[in-house]
Amino acid sequence: MNGPDPQNKHPMIGFPQVCYIKNTVNNPNIIIGDYTYYDDPVDAENFERNVLYHFPFIGDKLIIGKFCAIARDVKFIMNGANHKTSGISTYPFQIFGSGWEKVMPEPGDLPYKGDTVIGNDVWIGFEALIMPGVKVGNGAIIAARSVVTADVPAWSVVGGNPARVIHSRFPADSIKTLERLAWWDWPVEKISRHLPLIVSGDVAALAAVAEQ
Ligand SMILES: CC(C)(COP(=O)(O)OP(=O)(O)OC[C@H]1O[C@@H](n2cnc3c(N)ncnc32)[C@H](O)[C@@H]1OP(=O)(O)O)[C@@H](O)C(=O)NCCC(=O)NCCS
Repeated sequence: MNGPDPQNKHPMIGFPQVCYIKNTVNNPNIIIGDYTYYDDPVDAENFERNVLYHFPFIGDKLIIGKFCAIARDVKFIMNGANHKTSGISTYPFQIFGSGWEKVMPEPGDLPYKGDTVIGNDVWIGFEALIMPGVKVGNGAIIAARSVVTADVPAWSVVGGNPARVIHSRFPADSIKTLERLAWWDWPVEKISRHLPLIVSGDVAALAAVAEQ
């Protein structure tokens, strides 16, 4: 018994609101790891609708690791949302043409924060909003309705608007060990065998079995 098939869109029998979104996302600039799910009673397969202002001509990527839990109505704002902010007016005259295209921004004029990268085993709470270019470390928790404007340290809990670290989930030396163990990359048989330890708080015990 090695858990659900990660290729199954709806791994919970009779509960289609949970979707392994790696199997439903088509946009090549959205990359999702195995076992990462989106939970939404309304069309959970269409996670892509929550990735906003994500235009192919910009080319920024949303990369989400394995074993992440993404709650209902979590939104990702991508770089295409940004207007030029260095001028007097932020109004995007150029998009309307009819002569106004003469103020087309040059490459580099628009703010660009890079790819959004969510680590592994990240839990993103209800209606959280992740701003462009944010990097979220492994094992982090993002509290419900947070607005995440800055990078989130691995194994921390963040919350609020703007999201701030509420606390770290483990001491620094344990976090180092957890990052080294990277249990999410183990073969699924090994994960299944050691699940009780993976869901325990005993990092030393997990490290001991990892090396066996
Ligand atoms: C973050 C969360 C996991 C609680 O974590 P916790 O470590 O147990 O935190 P606590 O409840 O002890 O609260 C600690 C502090 O965080 C604050 N906090 C908790 N949730 C918060 C939120 N959503 N936004 C802002 N601050 C929050 C508390 O007010 C408290 O602040 P204080 O220390 O100033 O009093 C929980 O509040 C949460 O948001 N869960 C997400 C639930 C969800 O969306 N589920 C969707 C279905 S999977």
